[in-house]
Amino acid sequence: MGNFEEDYQRSLQDPDGFWGDAAAEISWSKPWDKVLNDSNPPFYKWFDGAELNTCYNCLDRHVEDGRGDQDALIYDSPMTGQVKKYTYSELTDLVARFAGGLADIGVSKGDRVIIYMPMVPEAAIAMLACARLGAIHSVVFGGFAPKELATRIDDSKPVCIIAGSCGLEPGRIVEYKPLLDEAIELSTHKPSSCVVLQRPECVGSMIEGRDHDWEELVSKSAPADCVPVAATDPLYILYTSGTTGIPKGVVRDNGGHAVALKWSMKYVYGIDPGEVFWAASDVGWVVGHSYIVYAPLLHGCTTIMFEGKPVGTPDAGTFWRVIQDHKVKALFTAPTAFRAIKQQDPKAELIKDYDLSNFVTLFLAGERADPDTIIWAQESLKVPVIDHWWQTETGWAIGANCIGYGMKPVKLGSPTLPVPGYDIRIIDEEDASTEMKTGEIGVIAVKLPLPPGTLPTLWHNDDGFIKSYLSEVPGYYKTGDAGYIDEDGYLFIMARTDDIINVAGHRLSTGGMEEVLAGHRDVAECAVIGIQDKLKGQAPLGFVVLNAGVNRDYEDVRKELVGLVREKIGPVAAFKMALVVDRLPKTRSGKILRGVMRKIADGEEYNAPATIDDPAILTEITTVLKDAGLPTG
Ligand code: COA
Ligand code: AMP
Repeated sequence: MGNFEEDYQRSLQDPDGFWGDAAAEISWSKPWDKVLNDSNPPFYKWFDGAELNTCYNCLDRHVEDGRGDQDALIYDSPMTGQVKKYTYSELTDLVARFAGGLADIGVSKGDRVIIYMPMVPEAAIAMLACARLGAIHSVVFGGFAPKELATRIDDSKPVCIIAGSCGLEPGRIVEYKPLLDEAIELSTHKPSSCVVLQRPECVGSMIEGRDHDWEELVSKSAPADCVPVAATDPLYILYTSGTTGIPKGVVRDNGGHAVALKWSMKYVYGIDPGEVFWAASDVGWVVGHSYIVYAPLLHGCTTIMFEGKPVGTPDAGTFWRVIQDHKVKALFTAPTAFRAIKQQDPKAELIKDYDLSNFVTLFLAGERADPDTIIWAQESLKVPVIDHWWQTETGWAIGANCIGYGMKPVKLGSPTLPVPGYDIRIIDEEDASTEMKTGEIGVIAVKLPLPPGTLPTLWHNDDGFIKSYLSEVPGYYKTGDAGYIDEDGYLFIMARTDDIINVAGHRLSTGGMEEVLAGHRDVAECAVIGIQDKLKGQAPLGFVVLNAGVNRDYEDVRKELVGLVREKIGPVAAFKMALVVDRLPKTRSGKILRGVMRKIADGEEYNAPATIDDPAILTEITTVLKDAGLPTG
């Protein structure tokens, strides 16, 4: 075990040495010329000149090293009642076969491939098959609507889309194929082919000449070899919410990603090759990319793909059953999953029915881990509960209790310390040249260069990359989070500085929802804020001002607005609340006071800014919220 403080300092002072050593864990087909090429800031290149194949490092390599008979992936689906296990040898064969099929329909190195699939093993197989060919995948979460999928098609311009015929949600089958067809209708760019995995629960109709059946394609294909790519070539694009309705295409490279993720398994998560790691997330999110698929496989672990919910599939004991049945050592999920379990089984009675003797650590991320949830999990599971902080852009933890070095004392509400590679500073919101003092809240920024594995840029949008993350605090990456560092160097993440909200661990843009509400024919003006929600952490709440002369039943308007957000963004936005108001509170320059409205809705004290145009509007807003039963207490 290394020394955390020494390694942390070395990672900042000698990044070439630190990450060069870590890179020895990865198999390269060509060595690098430079560990960090910093000749063209802010565009840094990790392992410049090197070549590798990520799929080879995830699969073939382990088979060659004697892990062929070990389980690589376990699919556990309470939704369908199935458990299927794939050894490293089996998974390598399936991926090579599917990659061969993709090659047969014209997918090759550098091509983009969108993957729109539920939590089935084929989703991971599709991702790894793209990596094998050097094609760039972009997974789109199944809860997103056709319009969102179309935006991603137009931005990434895929040659091929791989989709499941349906996803399974409790009590309903979500047919993906019609959503896919509609998205392709809406998009300007048209993929030349689609591959459809027909699930028995629902068979999607096929379009002649464009659509291929997964099984048929694979039955005719020969296994494809791994194609070496540059360390700096993109492995994937993952779209994430920005401050508008247009998502940002976060790019992940091959080399830095493999090095950082493999390193993180040992040092952040304390996991050894051969052990079982379970990230209860979805492949559509960054957690799914990094810790369901890539990191556990790079490290030679067994990963779990769970198709179900923490509650209701069939009950709040389902997580404990999976941990027991598959001898899970570490579980990684979002606090919201634990709030859902706690709500249904407050005394954690169901845990008693299961043998959790292999279970060592619970990791939480994706949203702020509230102390109540942490304490409940600690007391119920009797294992360390580790909060850690990161984002789609970084791909792995920025702040964590790196238990591979030995565990630091836990401070509730803090994800502990900056992780090696991240030089974190708290910057004054009003003056980017000033750092805040210990304990003072400011904008959280990371000094450039960011460590390997983090985003090198946005897809075909270097200017957007600079504008979104680098221009406000020169020389630093702006995380979009606000917080402080205490006297022991512990980080506290308090809130977003932009309009992003976190609903059940899902990152959403209120700006994007406002664009949808503004599109309703009767809406003159609107504002969407994220208010506290006991289960989901935050929930969106919309305020709308109707056009003059519109005289409609408010409940009808609400239903239409809820339907519109579901149709344009997707059910995952969980947009259920919309209130009609006469006016929105604004500053004299016309800026809507969303922060003040949020405080009123959450029952917090607020100060109306001196620049408010008409303070009486706040009283009106308070009355409307009270009538709607908010704050709920
Ligand atoms: N495809 C289609 N629809 C989906 C979907 C998918 N992959 N995932 C979710 N949805 C739908 C749900 O059916 C639901 O629709 P509804 O409004 O018709 O009920 C809606 O999107 C919201 O889903 P969800 O956020 O899952 O809420 P829920 O109320 O069904 O469940 C939790 C609440 C807390 C149990 C659930 O959010 C959860 O398990 N969260 C864990 C979070 C997580 O994994 N985050 C990833 C980062 S670590
Ligand atoms: P995503 O890109 O979906 O992973 O969301 C990233 C955002 O989620 C971060 O910028 C934070 O706002 C929030 N977040 C993630 N993990 C944590 C955490 N441990 N504590 C507080 N906020 C978190």
